Amino acid sequence: MQVSSVVSNSSACPLLPLPVEFVRTAGQLPVTTTFSVAVMGHDDARLQGALVRALRRWEERTGMVFARPRTGVGGKATLVVDCTGPGHAWPTVGEDESYALDVTPERATLRAATVPGAMHGLETLLQLLRADAEGWHLPAVTINDQPRFPWRGLMLDVCRHWVPLETIKRQLDGMAVVKLNVLHLHLTDDQGFRIESRTHPRLHECGSDGLFYTQDQMRELIAYAAARGIRVVPEIDVPGHATSWLVGYPELASQPGPYAIERRWGICDPTLDPTNEKVYTLIDAFFGEMAALFPDAYLHIGGDEVNGKQWNANPRLQEFIAAHGLKNNAGLQAYFNRRVQQLVAKHGKKMLGWDEILHPDLPREICVQSWRGVDSMATAVRLGCTALLSCGYYLDHLQPASWYYANDPLPEKSTLTPEEARRVLGGEACMWSEWATDETLDSRIWPRAAAIAERFWSPRSVTDPDDMYRRLAKASRRLEEVGLRHVKNPAAMLRRFAGEALLPPAFARLSAFLELVEAGGIYEREQHTRTNTQSTPLTGLIDCAPAESDIARKFAAAVRAWLFSERDPAAPATLELCAQLEAWRELAQDVADGLGANFGRLREAAPAAQAMAYACTVGLEAVQALASRQPLADDWVNARLAHLSTPAQAHAGLRLPVAVPVGMLVAAAKSARR
Ligand code: ACM
Repeated sequence: MQVSSVVSNSSACPLLPLPVEFVRTAGQLPVTTTFSVAVMGHDDARLQGALVRALRRWEERTGMVFARPRTGVGGKATLVVDCTGPGHAWPTVGEDESYALDVTPERATLRAATVPGAMHGLETLLQLLRADAEGWHLPAVTINDQPRFPWRGLMLDVCRHWVPLETIKRQLDGMAVVKLNVLHLHLTDDQGFRIESRTHPRLHECGSDGLFYTQDQMRELIAYAAARGIRVVPEIDVPGHATSWLVGYPELASQPGPYAIERRWGICDPTLDPTNEKVYTLIDAFFGEMAALFPDAYLHIGGDEVNGKQWNANPRLQEFIAAHGLKNNAGLQAYFNRRVQQLVAKHGKKMLGWDEILHPDLPREICVQSWRGVDSMATAVRLGCTALLSCGYYLDHLQPASWYYANDPLPEKSTLTPEEARRVLGGEACMWSEWATDETLDSRIWPRAAAIAERFWSPRSVTDPDDMYRRLAKASRRLEEVGLRHVKNPAAMLRRFAGEALLPPAFARLSAFLELVEAGGIYEREQHTRTNTQSTPLTGLIDCAPAESDIARKFAAAVRAWLFSERDPAAPATLELCAQLEAWRELAQDVADGLGANFGRLREAAPAAQAMAYACTVGLEAVQALASRQPLADDWVNARLAHLSTPAQAHAGLRLPVAVPVGMLVAAAKSARR
């Protein structure tokens, strides 16, 4: 069903994701110390847990203490929760997650078919709570809401850098805030085997540096997720990305060992040998363990980036390909996948894999996760498979929230039939961790993942990026409230980066400067730091820098508006633009001088500040030329544009987003002459 959003008074709507229907009605419901909660319909431990957590967040925000929820005595309660039934024991694809919320000046009523639906409604209530001079209150509203897609995921790579259990729990809390419902854990890769195997303990013992989740810890995590309505899908990546398996079991490889845990990034050669029966014996036993451990219906087998080098170099494998009519390495991988799919099915699971697994020989029950483009998703659903979209949702590329937001698993121009479209289950935001540690993970995921969460939850018609950003700023506060460290950690990291070298005024300037720049994504980092390994500290200025600069985004909007204005030299907008550029130029020059006078990585960061000062100077010149209608020479313009597009690699990996609107000013100054 394609629903469109009915949002009246949308400027008053603080919610993210935006609900299907939001109507602001008259008045408000005061929230005072007498606020009370009653459960009228179905009640259980999961609902009680969610209510107590929600109440605690209300208490921490307001400073008040509220009575604990009561069951069956709804008459006078301020919030009545009416849930029809429990929902599935473990969260399940496609279960009813809808809820309806009715807030009047007398009472709030939350109705849902299942406990997961009620939990979504509670998160909505938490986003509605606000204060003014008269105190705390909920605005009177009528909300009817349900997700657009049943599969709204976040993939976490816990292999390249280790992610402690508590950090994952924090992400689960954040996911619940924005109604994401699948945590996909990428548990094995060349750089680490992160889950305990009881049948083949050398997998985690030799492949993890001791950094793995025990099965008991994983059970605890799965329960923590389920308590928040979130499924946990394990990914065991085969037959490539498998170096960590081969440290303890070198006989499974396609070339002789020995093997060591990989410390660098990229596509590695070590690959399981699809012609070796011992490989299937081990996978059978290990997948059996995983199938018993993870209650979810799906098991992700990875399947990505098999470079075939070990297969090409092994004559026995090439003979196997010829003898079995498999044509080439892709055929060999399809043979392997068919065998693995039978094992996955034997253990009662559905097979999910990256789009490389797509092959006409595989059964239609598989689910394909498209990461290399959208075409594979369309091919998969046309073949009768189900599919997820991750292309366009790679958080580690550090694109702006609006960029991810513009990607839709089922855009309006989609040529899929309604039946094919129904097989698009949703999508996943992906957080690969080559360039993120426990300390930086939150700031690389949040709050931008919330924009993707809205794409997966809200009707397709919800597309206004400005309105998304308005609500994203509020969502960021809510995400901090549940313990995420996307604001807190970068601030502490910057203090460590500066050390004793910068006195407080210089430190404050560096901190202000950092709000104007952005960290380069995976490609810029690879260019900038080719020698990095798993043990290189990720504690540089780039790691303290935001993924997206709100200030630069707002400046770009102001520049666009000004370019379409009269551009009067004395107009307030012109004066504001000049004042802004002058202030930033002074700030950036001070920072450049301060960093440049230091040593080591502080000095390395100086060119970024110098480049920013340069961009501001050029911007001022362009504004003045445009305002006074003085033409700028082509040579001048071309030289400035070339300099402004200096890549992030030249600035210790930092992007200068302000250089983009400055480039627009410069280009406009050129065309203004004609
Ligand atoms: C992938 O990004 N290799 C799935």
